[in-house]
Amino acid sequence: MDKEPRPWSAHALAFPYPAQGHINPILQFCKRLVSKGVKATLVTTRFLSKSIHVDPSSNIDLETISDGFDEGGQAQAESWEDYIATFKAVGSETLGNLINKLNDSDHPVNALIYDGSFPWALDVAKQLGVLKVVFFTQPCSVCNVYYHVQRGLLPMPLSGPVVSIPGLPLLKVSETPSMIYDPSSYPAFYDVLLDQFINIDEADWVLDNSFHKMEEEVVDWMAKRWRLRTIGPTVPSMYLDKRIEGDRNYGINLFKPNSSACISWLQSKPIASVVYVSFGSVVEPRVEQMREVAWGLKRSNCYFLWVVREAELSKLPENFAEETGEKGLVVTWCSQLEVLAHEAIGCFLTHCGFNSVLEALSLGVPMVAVPQWSDQPTNAKYVEDVWKTGIRAKPDEEGIVRREVVELCLREVMEGEKGIEIRDNARKWKKLSKEAIDEGGTSDKNIDEFVAALIGQTI
Ligand code: UDX
Repeated sequence: MDKEPRPWSAHALAFPYPAQGHINPILQFCKRLVSKGVKATLVTTRFLSKSIHVDPSSNIDLETISDGFDEGGQAQAESWEDYIATFKAVGSETLGNLINKLNDSDHPVNALIYDGSFPWALDVAKQLGVLKVVFFTQPCSVCNVYYHVQRGLLPMPLSGPVVSIPGLPLLKVSETPSMIYDPSSYPAFYDVLLDQFINIDEADWVLDNSFHKMEEEVVDWMAKRWRLRTIGPTVPSMYLDKRIEGDRNYGINLFKPNSSACISWLQSKPIASVVYVSFGSVVEPRVEQMREVAWGLKRSNCYFLWVVREAELSKLPENFAEETGEKGLVVTWCSQLEVLAHEAIGCFLTHCGFNSVLEALSLGVPMVAVPQWSDQPTNAKYVEDVWKTGIRAKPDEEGIVRREVVELCLREVMEGEKGIEIRDNARKWKKLSKEAIDEGGTSDKNIDEFVAALIGQTI
């Protein structure tokens, strides 16, 4: 562990939304900044800070602010709307106080890197004269859809059959983010997702956890409007090499992983024989969908490792464990990178949260996409039609992917003709991901440019 005080060149405060899919990419980005001589401090809520631990060897400090719910976090709020509104009111003040406190220390703050979900953080940064840096954990393609709706450039409600947005392939209405094709389903999310772009023109930097080759056209289109830089994939580089020993604790887990059980189970399985299944940290698939996936897995006759969060376990068919026996292992959380990097994994049946997609792409794992909501349908479109590293399992008219479709898609990817092409593409994208973050790669150069600006304050 590096205990010597380091001669930091600048200080960046990083403020993710307090959820699994947002904390880790920003934390990993902080690690990159630290490796380039910038002091990084992660900001989280007082409530969440009680259950998270930043590895001291990362040299990243942890500071807290209040979201107004110090005892119970989001669960204490009356609704998500209440949570977001209170967070804005209390968070603006406590974030400002934190920056003032740090400005009186040996390491004054040069930049506030804030999650796109908190556009109010830009005002805090502006008021205190630090660089305003918005960080998006969703891909640029999705950002551009929200931006177009927010600015009234894409008339709502969408009228089909296809939607045309600069830099993106033509999207069927059902391939746009769910809050766009069905705004009434989650009105609060609709507002928060569009508000990400309300003051983007004032941001000094716009960072996205993607890389240039992944979404070339849309990145170039957006970079003409803002100082947009892709800095991803924020997947620890050692995983990209499949050298996984020694860094099991690569980030922050809001759930308790059962890593050793997963890895010893995977060790006993042949190469590329296991389907890894996860719906991420937020999605709550319908009971019917969980059952269809369960029986689809059984019908495929593949080995499977399925992450079913504690609260979701009751959705599994009662006799599922007996019916599948040695074929499957269900755990409530795992170290996903470690699992995806394992040679026994042949395919990832994923909800297509952007972190999961990036991780699979970076590790060369073919995907079966079963998107549920939010940005996931658009991410799935890219998996199938742009990167061609997987296929989307088509839902029926009730929005459920049936067991026959699950089985067919798994067979196609694991054993079929299409699987050969998908595996070739997966290998190609693994290489491109690594190139982007390796020294001199597009993302690495973008991070260098950002660091130079932090040091020189050239804005
Ligand atoms: C959310 C949204 O759903 C997603 O669409 C958005 O782009 C980011 O925020 P989430 O649904 O949790 O995130 O999915 P995802 O983006 O895939 O993030 C999940 C993270 O949890 C990944 O980094 C994954 O590696 C990790 N994970 C998941 C584990 O470490 N262990 C697990 O068992 C499951």
